[in-house]
Amino acid sequence: MRKDVRILLVGESKVGKTSLIMSLVSEEFPHVVPYRAEEITIPADVTPERVPTHIVDYSEAEQTDEQLFQEISKANVICIVYAVNNKKSIEKVTSHWIPLIIENTDKDSRVPLILVGNKSDLVEHSSMETILPIMNQYSEIETCVECSAKNLKNISELFYYAQKAVLHPTGPLYCPERKD
Ligand code: GTP
Ligand code: MG
Repeated sequence: MRKDVRILLVGESKVGKTSLIMSLVSEEFPHVVPYRAEEITIPADVTPERVPTHIVDYSEAEQTDEQLFQEISKANVICIVYAVNNKKSIEKVTSHWIPLIIENTDKDSRVPLILVGNKSDLVEHSSMETILPIMNQYSEIETCVECSAKNLKNISELFYYAQKAVLHPTGPLYCPERKD
């Protein structure tokens, strides 16, 4: 059995990575957050899968590319966060984040990815229509979830999915040849 699980959150600035982590830890929305949350370790007995879980934040303002690449290579699962009300942050998932992650991970050890649409409290419609084609394009993507750090919707689910992606990977049902 695995010793522990290391979850890394990446994504464009201001999509709410730090807020998601702090909301999970304090069970309330933090109105003021630092650029980067301290790495936190959740003890095994309070995680759904009973495995110590490290949650690691990323901030472009506080970290170099080299530090980011290192964190990517250490992660067991990576949450790519976008904001559902920010189209640009969704475009960057495929134009920037997925290629960067693939470049910085070992070809033989597949790192599962989770697409996280934060700020669901700000929109009526879901981003799933935009996200599904991306899911079908990359077999690395384990699942996707829409959530809100603000009203705490799907926050514990998100971290549960991340844990589960490492401990019981399923892979997508449909996995076409990559088109690039
Ligand atoms: P960087 O550290 O700069 O990369 O940003 P970040 O991705 O960590 O985002 P951060 O947590 O700092 O949040 C950015 C802004 O979005 C803050 O003003 C948050 O209060 C706000 N925010 C975060 N999550 C939510 C959410 O779920 N809903 C709403 N309405 N606002 C949110
Ligand atoms: Mg931050």
